[in-house]
Amino acid sequence: MTCVQKCRTDEESRKTVFTILSMSKVIAILNQKGGVGKTTLAVHLATAFARGGQSVLLLDADAQGSALDWAAARQGEPLFPVIGLPKASIHKELPALTSSYDAVIIDGPPRVHDVARSAIMASDLVLVPVQPSPYDVWAAKEIIDLMNEAAVFRPSTQMAFLVNRKIVNTAIGRDVAEALSEYPLPLLKSAVCQRVAFAESAAQGLTVFDLDPEMLASQEVDLLATEVRELVA
Ligand SMILES: Nc1ncnc2c1ncn2[C@@H]1O[C@H](COP(=O)(O)OP(=O)(O)OP(=O)(O)O)[C@@H](O)[C@H]1O
Ligand SMILES: [Mg+2]
Repeated sequence: MTCVQKCRTDEESRKTVFTILSMSKVIAILNQKGGVGKTTLAVHLATAFARGGQSVLLLDADAQGSALDWAAARQGEPLFPVIGLPKASIHKELPALTSSYDAVIIDGPPRVHDVARSAIMASDLVLVPVQPSPYDVWAAKEIIDLMNEAAVFRPSTQMAFLVNRKIVNTAIGRDVAEALSEYPLPLLKSAVCQRVAFAESAAQGLTVFDLDPEMLASQEVDLLATEVRELVA
């Protein structure tokens, strides 16, 4: 697991990997625990995909409507549409809604089990953001149980943990990786660090790419998007 400390612009690899993505892929960001960064990561992954020239739909499966609020706060031309579907029928309705998109990102709800289960059944890949805290590691059991239930209906869905809000230059990221290895899900190599730019940009319906596409936060999201694309290709 690495956080970007200093690296080159990943423009080349971004474009190369985008070409691999040729059919609609559904990626859900889910965790029953609240406040782990589901919406932040969903909005940023969707943006990274769209910046690479892919047609993207962001589906807000949370009745709080945070991704919809983010889209409403944004000025100017949106990079991708955001629709709300906080229902347990996502897996039934999604294929008809999304066939024209290269990628669909689902921003999952906290707590609501039936909607989350439906999102898992709709997805090629489920990412579970986990903050480097023992509370998040313990709480992950809940989503694992839900995934086991959903896997009966869709065994092909891939699932992985993703560390969000990693604190730069601390051992805590390594500790969380070790703690998560107790669970039967892999951990993505990419991690997203604790960076104030994520919170600052969200308030205006922006992303870290709008602040500076070369900043470390943007580079981290690009590396994450590249890893995700490779997984679903
Ligand atoms: N990597 C990060 N660095 C700094 N702040 C972050 C990061 N990721 C998320 N945040 C902040 O953490 C808070 C919670 O994030 P977010 O709303 O994305 O979580 P969530 O899992 O979608 O929450 P909910 O369960 O309520 O839907 C927000 O204020 C967001 O700006
Ligand atoms: Mg949210």
